[in-house]
Amino acid sequence: MNAQIPAQVSSALSFADWMAQVQAGMEAVLDRFLAPAAVAPARLHEAMRYTALDGGKRVRPLLVYAAGEVFDAPAALLDRAAAALEMIHVYSLVHDDMPCMDDDALRRGKPTVHVKYDEATALLVGDALQAQAFATLSAPVDAELDDAAADLPARQLSMLNLLAQAAGSVGMCGGQAIDLASVGMTLSLAELEQMHRLKTGALLRAAVMLGALGGKALTAQERAALDDYAHAIGLAFQVVDDILDATADSATLGKTAGKDAADNKPTYVSILGLGESQALAEKLRGNAHQALAPFGDKARRLRELADLIVQRKA
Ligand code: IPE
Ligand code: IPE
Ligand code: MG
Ligand code: MG
Ligand code: MG
Repeated sequence: MNAQIPAQVSSALSFADWMAQVQAGMEAVLDRFLAPAAVAPARLHEAMRYTALDGGKRVRPLLVYAAGEVFDAPAALLDRAAAALEMIHVYSLVHDDMPCMDDDALRRGKPTVHVKYDEATALLVGDALQAQAFATLSAPVDAELDDAAADLPARQLSMLNLLAQAAGSVGMCGGQAIDLASVGMTLSLAELEQMHRLKTGALLRAAVMLGALGGKALTAQERAALDDYAHAIGLAFQVVDDILDATADSATLGKTAGKDAADNKPTYVSILGLGESQALAEKLRGNAHQALAPFGDKARRLRELADLIVQRKA
């Protein structure tokens, strides 16, 4: 089972139907790459499945498949990249919610892992999901492809390198460190942007670039255009997350609303105000669309995802 939808089928689907099909496919792919709950240690495997399955918008996997469509990447590679990235994202959420970080009790409409299980399990769930992400992205693909391109191992290696950079201290973890060090501080706009670009932007950018790297080689112009798109949606995503934290309710978000202000976190809303934050998100949506111009119709899903990221209500 692959979650990538063949190009001819995809072109006939509405965005909502395409999204629903990819999300359902992603569930099956994650199920395949996570250890069964019955395998020992059962409690750890059960907790990994509890947090990774049946929940979340799956925005990062959607971006992987949408970018893969532009560059004709094989489904087997996209499945590995999308599942790996979602595992890293989910691990980052499990740790983000722990008492030593944001201390949150609700995630994806369910009790957080340290609440449902315990803190040590939450720590290990994150560690193990990160390791499983790299095992998944490096899993052999030959058996799933009739006509495997000779450079597939090289593509996989560059994808692994990209994901490792995006997840680490110069990516997501680095951003989380800045976030925690910034509590109670008034950051400059440049500092705030740097924090957001790392803690959230890095994995969203990785989603776009992983999808592209899975396909045929990119020209320097294509890479630059895609990078512009990825940067715009990566920042827009966290700007909108900050807006929703201040404006939506917990039931809609599936996580505790109003937490940023309660914890004294510097956010786009606290620094720019609501109106200017909304205007910035809209401007970034425009930038994302503009960056996609060279790709024409093939980038339809990436365009629709930029709209979703900015216009979402949860
Ligand atoms: C929440 O991410 C954490 C941020 C990086 C802002 P998402 O809003 O993508 O969360 P899920 O995956 O849908 O639960
Ligand atoms: C989390 O940012 C970013 C990562 C998990 C890397 P937030 O702390 O704003 O995310 P939420 O609002 O708890 O989902
Ligand atoms: Mg946080
Ligand atoms: Mg948080
Ligand atoms: Mg938030």
